[in-house]
This record gives sequence, C-alpha cells and structure tokens, in this order.
Amino acid sequence: MEHQVAVYRKEHFNAAHKLYCADWTDEENKRVFGACSNANYHGHNYDLIVKVVGVPDPITGFVINTKDLSKMVEEEVISRFDHKNLNLDTELFKNLNPSAENIAIVIYNLLRPRIAEQLALKIRLYETERNFVDYPA
Ligand code: NI
Repeated sequence: MEHQVAVYRKEHFNAAHKLYCADWTDEENKRVFGACSNANYHGHNYDLIVKVVGVPDPITGFVINTKDLSKMVEEEVISRFDHKNLNLDTELFKNLNPSAENIAIVIYNLLRPRIAEQLALKIRLYETERNFVDYPA
C-alpha cells in the first residue's frame, strides 16, 4: 500500500516591495494597493512554507531529504530575495507586481524543476501573520 506523506520546510526572508500600476495615478494606486503602494517601498517579514507530498522511499523512508530541500530553498529563494528590494533587485519582478500571490507563483516555478516529478509541490507564503496565500490553490 502506498502512503502519501506531506513534508514541510519552513523558511523566512525579509524583503522590500512596492505594489503599483505605472498607468494609474498615485491616488488610484493608493486606493487599490493601500500602504503597499508607498512610493519609497516598505518591508515585510515573509514566512515561507514549502510542502512536498509523495510516498516515502522504501529504503531511506524519506519523501524528500529535508537537507536537500533546505539547500534548494536557500539557493533558489532565500539567497535571491532575502534583504532585497523585490522590485529593484530582482529581474523576476521587473514587470510583475510582487504581491504575495505572484511571489508564491515565482517561488513555485523556481523550485519545481529541482523536485522529483512524482512529488507534488505546494507553496504557502505569509506576507503578514494574517495574510497568506497558497499556490497551487
Ligand atoms: Ni506590502
């Protein structure tokens, strides 16, 4: 019998961002994006939870080696985003608003190629303690 198990790795990074649409007035941006449209950027303490689902290997007992998973997240995500300005310091958000939704999709796309095909991947990203997103939904 094949038992699916979910493995989680929790990470953290601090990053600055600004949400805005260049075609809109400052007022419109403020109305839609609120404090997140602040012209001089602002920071968030992001909590990232990477979930990997699969059947444990019959020999190791691992779905994925958490040491490898941790290294992947460090290389693909933390080293790219931690203490960075997401709008200015990364190519990934040059033309993409760094909303929690979009950051979660970007993180998924960075990690997906590095995780074995038969394993399911899900990203949960907390922008604040109360606001968080899942991708895929
Ligand atoms: Ni914000």
